[in-house]
Amino acid sequence: MSGEGKLVCVTGASGYIASWLVKLLLERGYTVKATVRDPDDPKIKHLHELDGAKERLHLLKANLLEEGSFDSAVDGCEGVFHTASPVFVSTNDPQADFIDPAVKGTLNVLSSCIKVQSVKRVVVTASLASIVFNGKPLTPDVVVDETWFSDPAFCKESKYWYHLSKTLAEEAAWRFAKENGIDLITLHPGLVIGPLLQSSLNFSVEVILNLFNGNNQQPFKYYDYDLSLFLRAQSFPSTYSSSRFPQLVEDICWLYTYFRFKAVKYEPSFQVNNERAKSLGINFTPWDVSVQDTVESLKEKGFLKF
Ligand SMILES: NC(=O)c1ccc[n+]([C@@H]2O[C@H](COP(=O)([O-])OP(=O)(O)OC[C@H]3O[C@@H](n4cnc5c(N)ncnc54)[C@H](OP(=O)(O)O)[C@@H]3O)[C@@H](O)[C@H]2O)c1
Repeated sequence: MSGEGKLVCVTGASGYIASWLVKLLLERGYTVKATVRDPDDPKIKHLHELDGAKERLHLLKANLLEEGSFDSAVDGCEGVFHTASPVFVSTNDPQADFIDPAVKGTLNVLSSCIKVQSVKRVVVTASLASIVFNGKPLTPDVVVDETWFSDPAFCKESKYWYHLSKTLAEEAAWRFAKENGIDLITLHPGLVIGPLLQSSLNFSVEVILNLFNGNNQQPFKYYDYDLSLFLRAQSFPSTYSSSRFPQLVEDICWLYTYFRFKAVKYEPSFQVNNERAKSLGINFTPWDVSVQDTVESLKEKGFLKF
């Protein structure tokens, strides 16, 4: 898949997933307009250091809560990857800290897209959080697929503010896309792990660190995820854009860890149908390899010492 001569936009480029996305897009020859809240922030140093960044990475300032903030970022772009959203920040004000940036932010990005002629497809990073949390029982024989939707009322009652924000944002994205004829794909990762590009921790990698530090109070559900899917989402056959893209993880595991990943074992707690992802040729990284890669990265960055 060559991106030579093609211009794409990635929102939230300072983030864990988006940093990888920018790196992989640059490697494939794309020119990338990447949005960050503060282009002078030292925490985005890793983006400047990516191969091809000097020639083909353009960093633009944008905030999810500012209307029109993404206008110049999407202008001229063929594809837009929207990843920016608050992820598990602690909050006393879920509306301001989660729901508004997720929902208004998604609508702001999509509104910018319809102002220009260039955008052919928008890829929104949704989440397993917008699929699974509807109160249905989750047992090892249950298979979750793209026909599932999280229930906002259930998320609210359970005070799952992140899940609520992702569910409402996805609903809003599909509604807006339908009303405005946008070719939309939503991706539904579970817990994304693997090496860090940035020097700070994000939520999902910190989960692994906490397990090794003994900070977790209970076992956590884990998922594998292959970042190459984001790239492929840009060129899926359009038939895949008419419905939610299926959950992409290979397995969901209960992972019990004790200081060494060799001691890690897992059992599925429920199943995820990823047949459509596999039919597109996605090869998932096995979970133990992902854990090992994450641990090596945490050691290299100085977060883990053993
Ligand atoms: N990691 C996972 O396991 C996982 C799983 C499923 C779905 N996802 C989804 O994938 C996306 C990226 O996740 P991640 O793990 O890479 O998260 P991350 O590292 O925490 O990155 C989140 C990004 O969102 C940006 N952001 C937050 N609030 C913003 C605002 N008001 N205006 C502009 N930008 C804002 C952050 O910018 P700052 O750096 O300026 O704060 C950052 O770039 C999110 O949509 C998340 O819901 C992640």
